Amino acid sequence: MRALRALVTGPSTGIGRTFARERPATGYAVTAVAPSKDRLRTLVDELGSSHRYLVADLATTDGQGLIADELARHLADLLVNNAGAAHHGPFTETTARDALTAIRLNCEAVVTLAHAFLAQARPGDALINVSSTLAYAPTPGLAVHSASKAFVTSLSKALWHEQRPCRVYVMGLCPGMTATDSQFLSHEDATAALIQTPEALVAAAPGPRPPRPPHCGLRQGECRLHLRRPPAAPQNRPRAAQPPALIRPARPLRPPERPGKTVQQIADIP
Ligand SMILES: NC(=O)c1ccc[n+]([C@@H]2O[C@H](COP(=O)([O-])OP(=O)(O)OC[C@H]3O[C@@H](n4cnc5c(N)ncnc54)[C@H](OP(=O)(O)O)[C@@H]3O)[C@@H](O)[C@H]2O)c1
Repeated sequence: MRALRALVTGPSTGIGRTFARERPATGYAVTAVAPSKDRLRTLVDELGSSHRYLVADLATTDGQGLIADELARHLADLLVNNAGAAHHGPFTETTARDALTAIRLNCEAVVTLAHAFLAQARPGDALINVSSTLAYAPTPGLAVHSASKAFVTSLSKALWHEQRPCRVYVMGLCPGMTATDSQFLSHEDATAALIQTPEALVAAAPGPRPPRPPHCGLRQGECRLHLRRPPAAPQNRPRAAQPPALIRPARPLRPPERPGKTVQQIADIP
């Protein structure tokens, strides 16, 4: 049986790095994806020889295509869509180009990789899309970022439902403030008790589960909705005895008497 494989985006620092470090302990061989080769090499040297890295800028079509191809060629059991970027500042004071680059990384890359992953996913596999609590809190100064995370959360919820019959688990992970180098939010003013460590966050995400056999003859990548029929209505069944009336039925409400003109009076107006 082959080893479980996890592909983690943005693992050179912060939350992604913690995912990449923790997953080997739970049996995964990690493929780490980020733009900076030096950081990736340091990480993989630390993890060991069964782990690998791929250099890719996921804000570009080429970078997304490279990793989508990788997912198609080398099957993965877990995809952690973690890489994300934010540009701070009032919307009109940041460039449209920066906003669109953030959307390419936070949304387009998530969709592209999720699509490639789910096309090959087997029962027991898992997709984790790292979103944010900002998905629920449109934030001035982070308008595009919080909107992009609302997209990731909404997408993840719908995919969770779609993938249930296939037994592929989808999670939209919404961290609150997490102590990482990047500090997507300015954590300086926050109460220390509100800031979690990446380790505490990653511990809440799902670990490996033994692959279950496909059910109902589903093939890999095939997904079907199972709709339960409502139970047939009972016919010619004697009515159940009425429970004793403990509460006197309420008196029907009288319509409130309206001051002013009656319908007849209005009709009389020439
Ligand atoms: N920290 C928080 O408080 C917090 C809260 C809620 C949600 N989140 C979410 O958690 C995720 C990780 O956050 P973090 O704080 O751990 O971030 P981080 O420390 O800044 O790490 C970001 C990672 O993404 C990679 N990356 C950046 N641009 C990329 C690109 N164009 N293509 C591929 N990879 C790219 C970086 O690689 P390089 O090192 O090579 O640039 C790095 O590995 C993000 O999606 C973020 O929105 C964070």
